[in-house]
Amino acid sequence: MYDYFTLGNGVKIPSIGLGTWDTPDGETAENVVSFALRNGYSHIDTAAAYYNEAGVGKGIKASGLPREQIFVTSKLWNTKRGYESTKKAFEKTLSDLGLDYLDLYLIHWPANQKHFSDADKINLETWRAMTELYLAGKIRAIGVSNFLPHHLKPLMETQVKPMVDQIEYHPGYLQKEAVRFCKDNGILVEAWSPLGRGRVLSDERLARLAGHYGKSVAQLCVRFALQNEILPLPKSVTEKRILENRDVMDFVISDEDMAEIESMGEFGWSGLHPDEVDF
Ligand code: A2P
Repeated sequence: MYDYFTLGNGVKIPSIGLGTWDTPDGETAENVVSFALRNGYSHIDTAAAYYNEAGVGKGIKASGLPREQIFVTSKLWNTKRGYESTKKAFEKTLSDLGLDYLDLYLIHWPANQKHFSDADKINLETWRAMTELYLAGKIRAIGVSNFLPHHLKPLMETQVKPMVDQIEYHPGYLQKEAVRFCKDNGILVEAWSPLGRGRVLSDERLARLAGHYGKSVAQLCVRFALQNEILPLPKSVTEKRILENRDVMDFVISDEDMAEIESMGEFGWSGLHPDEVDF
């Protein structure tokens, strides 16, 4: 159970990915990625904006795993939106990673109405380039990140629909409307910051629930996402934690405890709203 999720086009995606936001390029990224891949992970999530694609790529090679056994995601940064620049940015990402195809490529953030009068048009032009790259076989699956239903709707009318939406998701920030929209439309939700970037780990209610299973709060958070059919991307540069975060297949959160987490109010939100951010 939970070995992988299956995307709308049939591509299988390993059910827990290593997040690499804030992971420094160079030796750290290389070592962390190689360590994770040699220790049960087969899915790495990076982005052009993390400035670590070169190190991530070296880690992939250093792991010794065959390329086809690794699922690699990257994301198009906001300054590169639009048809031509999306294609160029994709080629740079591939070259920085040292790969000849990507498993998944995402639009990192939607252009929003607050800062772009033609936001929908920009997102559609970006999506047209992503679609062409996908149809040309350079990417196995395409999707978006931080898109809310009103950003997603125009894309749902195009030739190839998004297969993934990666959003902030953790106890205390469940984005129920966006999750429901994605599930109703066959879009897999991925959770960035499934541990609330560490902010929710000190919550006493979560600590009590984790205690029911002899697990850490981090493990409870990862398992909580999985049980809601959401793919968690916990980030860590610490070997012990990297192991801990994937050691979640030997317990099941009870329906009662799931409901308690679902009913907790908001806490631990990053403060980043896709309609407000100015980057
Ligand atoms: P570090 O990378 O120094 O190990 P998120 O995935 O929600 O963005 O959270 C990432 C943050 O949580 C990082 O600061 C990371 O620290 C920390 N972290 C990751 N895994 C664990 C864990 N199992 N226990 C405690 N902190 C963790």
